[in-house]
Amino acid sequence: IKTIGILTSGGDAPGMNAAIRAVTRAGIYNGFRIKGIYRGYEGLIHDEVQEFTTENVSGIVTRGGTILKTARSKEFPTPEGMQKAYETCVKEEIDALVVIGGNGSLTGARNFGMEFDFPVIGLPGTIDNDLYGTDSTIGYDTTMNTIMECVDRIRDTANSHERIFFVEVMGRDAGFLAQNSAIACGAEAAIVPEESTDVDQLAQFMSRGIRKSKKSCIVIVSESPKCGALYYADRVKKEFPEFDVRVSILGHLQRGGTPSARDRILAATTGVGAIEAIKQGQRNVMVGIRNNEVVYVPFSECIRTDKRFDKRLIKVLDELSI
Ligand code: F6P
Repeated sequence: IKTIGILTSGGDAPGMNAAIRAVTRAGIYNGFRIKGIYRGYEGLIHDEVQEFTTENVSGIVTRGGTILKTARSKEFPTPEGMQKAYETCVKEEIDALVVIGGNGSLTGARNFGMEFDFPVIGLPGTIDNDLYGTDSTIGYDTTMNTIMECVDRIRDTANSHERIFFVEVMGRDAGFLAQNSAIACGAEAAIVPEESTDVDQLAQFMSRGIRKSKKSCIVIVSESPKCGALYYADRVKKEFPEFDVRVSILGHLQRGGTPSARDRILAATTGVGAIEAIKQGQRNVMVGIRNNEVVYVPFSECIRTDKRFDKRLIKVLDELSI
């Protein structure tokens, strides 16, 4: 392998730039040529490729987003899209790919690697933390801190007005962001896709707390097309019209911002690990960190869609929110 292509794909995540920098610098240090591929798999299909030197990645470790841009490609999963992407690799003399992204992106990486017997290494880049085989994904820690800052502010106004807030956070089908940010913010409850929530019980629990001693109540809700924060706020309002209820949907501000130290270090370590994997002749694996060790996890294991957070965290929140 002489030339390695890097791309970022799917939703951007803080720390992706630190990962691009790590792969580029470790790659060049180890004698590889590095090519940056713009706009994820779309750029691979349409040959948006540029040779990278160490200067291309100077000063980006502090920046959120991704300098390579990103996309959710509809064409790449099709046989024609994959074929075009492969032709770009041949034309650009790219012998291996490093793909930084979440579940969908690493599924694409696995399929591409299998279809063309092509070496692909994945890095876990998503705020959702929904990839098996790594304790944390690049972006998750920063997003958690962003949510915490926002909810701390919401708590100030919630306290002043003695209100109930339903705060909606991202996470797609996973409740990591909701459950853990609820613990970090001292929220009264979290509503996550992994657990069913009974609205009556929730309302009774909230009303007990408010009548007893609390001046405000914050419920963190995982995003959901049907049962998001608006849905729960509406239900609680109907059943308890005496409550002053507000909704705050944090949205895409959760994805931006300068990456935390943890995310930068995770990106640097897994980025160097990706080059090490290529040197060892590994293919079709994601580089993760488990129990402080760099691990190489086959794509088929890390893209399972049922990664669950530790159920003990539910008990932690329950016991602390009385
Ligand atoms: O996967 C990251 C994520 O931010 C999810 O939490 C969210 O559901 C989704 O992406 C939003 O995607 P988009 O920015 O394409 O609307």
